[in-house]
Amino acid sequence: MASQRLLIAPSLLAADFSRLRDEIQTVEAAGADWFHVDIMDGHFVPNLTMGPFIVEAIRKLTKLPLDCHLMIEYPEQYAEAFVKAGADWISVHPEPPGDARKALEIARRAGARPSLAINPPTTVQSVQSFRGEIEMLLIMTIFPGFGGQKLMIECLPKYAQAREVFGPDVLLEIDGGVTIENGGEVRAAGAEVIVAGTAIFHAPDPAAAMRALRKA
Ligand code: DX5
Ligand code: ZN
Repeated sequence: MASQRLLIAPSLLAADFSRLRDEIQTVEAAGADWFHVDIMDGHFVPNLTMGPFIVEAIRKLTKLPLDCHLMIEYPEQYAEAFVKAGADWISVHPEPPGDARKALEIARRAGARPSLAINPPTTVQSVQSFRGEIEMLLIMTIFPGFGGQKLMIECLPKYAQAREVFGPDVLLEIDGGVTIENGGEVRAAGAEVIVAGTAIFHAPDPAAAMRALRKA
């Protein structure tokens, strides 16, 4: 059964940054719950995006929670800077070099909510030692690095496994390839925080896409 909790987090990676204020206002008015902010370092993933400086600018454009997804090596070196810049949630990966556990602790102490993000090959079992240390598990349904990829359907059973392992309180987030067409299916699988970039910002009418996604 789908959870009662449903939060939609448009991914700003797909927004037009030359009109960021308008893009944010449009989807916020259409009912966005959070904004998802993708931080990439060109090492853990083959793409570069933004640092704390940009997060600080985004912070001035909205009061909604900023869900910062750190796809970076050594997240413990940067977690505090992103929280100071305005991140409400910090997601870090266990796969790259660095100390994810320490990064989560730093984020929590700095005042953000800690979340772990796992790539498609990383099993829920392999991260169960994080139980009690995280408030959200972000289960990737693509290999991170770029928006606009196709959702890997084989990742969906991980939501039920995560619920078993992490218990009822941990939020389960989906990121990668969510569309209006597969929205119902990802919800039924147990995803509660729905990240969507391309499906919202590349739609002819992002506000309508935002509402359609919620209905789906
Ligand atoms: C990819 C990012 C995603 C991305 C999702 O590495 O983590 O958040 O923005 O984009 P779509 O919704 O287009 O798959
Ligand atoms: Zn992301």
